[in-house]
Amino acid sequence: MKIYIGSDHTGVEVRQAIINYLENQGIEVVDLGTQLEKANYAEIGISVGEHVINDPGSLGIAICGTGIGISIACNKVSGIRCALVDRIDNASLIKEHNNANVLALGARTTSLDDMLKIIDAYINTPFAGGRHQERLQTISDYEQKK
Ligand code: RB5
Repeated sequence: MKIYIGSDHTGVEVRQAIINYLENQGIEVVDLGTQLEKANYAEIGISVGEHVINDPGSLGIAICGTGIGISIACNKVSGIRCALVDRIDNASLIKEHNNANVLALGARTTSLDDMLKIIDAYINTPFAGGRHQERLQTISDYEQKK
């Protein structure tokens, strides 16, 4: 499994902790930054989305203060299904039902401990397919029409 991770300035510390956590499990992680004191969450979100789309089978983790701005930006990349999670019980559902290829997290809203639980559930849950695939197909068909 390969994971692309990026954050704006609000997520620099938790991003490094998440990278260490994933690499200790033998997961390949590509760090897309930022290292800057101030960064534009939209640029990072689009970068995470583009890397995931260009590397089929990979996943992304995108972090800003709330997770909201970066998820909006990431979802502008065609083919991206980025879901913001701040409740542990939604972490598995964004994969099981929505096959989210990017997880968004809020550095100012979610503790590192909860983030790691959310990430574990997200990466270890398979997509259920079936009726959920039909719904994703509707989104994808709409995207292709544009
Ligand atoms: C940065 O201050 C903050 O606006 C950003 O991290 C994010 O929360 C935006 O949605």
